[in-house]
Amino acid sequence: MAIVGSNNKIKLAVLISGRGSNLQAIIDACAVPKFPAEIAVVISNKPDVFGLQRAEQADIPTQTVDHKSFASKAGFEKALQNTIIPYSADLVCLAGFMRILSADFIDHWPEKIINIHPSLLPKHKGLNTHERAIEAGDKAAGCSVHYVVPEMDSGPIIVQKQVAILENDPPDTLAARVLEQEHLAYPEAITHVAGNILKNDA
Ligand code: GRF
Repeated sequence: MAIVGSNNKIKLAVLISGRGSNLQAIIDACAVPKFPAEIAVVISNKPDVFGLQRAEQADIPTQTVDHKSFASKAGFEKALQNTIIPYSADLVCLAGFMRILSADFIDHWPEKIINIHPSLLPKHKGLNTHERAIEAGDKAAGCSVHYVVPEMDSGPIIVQKQVAILENDPPDTLAARVLEQEHLAYPEAITHVAGNILKNDA
């Protein structure tokens, strides 16, 4: 674990798999001087995704650890771990990172890995959350930022944001409204976790 820098900011490793709109929200939050975190590295498990371009544009170091080039999940996770470690991250942020991490990986950063999930957890773990919320007749949908534990989408919730499900709401329209909330929720969650880390380091 890193020693928090003298600038009173924690260091983040942000893991992505795609377009990186949540990453962008975190980049934008980090540009505000009083925000208590800075991004040390952005890592993608897929080459050439748009999120990597967003990081490059913001002059943030990027790495790709392509899961497809490893024969085993353990091999991929070891490489991922070895990629993160030199950046001394205080917090690993999964932002649209679409691989399920094993307990071995998670145990390396106890209570220092967080994820965003597009549902009001514990409802609708896994994929296709918006379709499932509509099909279930839910009146509300939303997003959750939570600590990562070995059981998927199950760790303690840090921030949750809610939107109403409207009559005849198509899943993609609902997804877009939830995504707006995700972009508020992630920086809020990082602020909360950073506050705890900085307090414990003081
Ligand atoms: C988000 O909806 C996130 O909740 C889910 O995957 C999507 C990633 O979007 N886990 P982006 O790459 O951050 O734009």
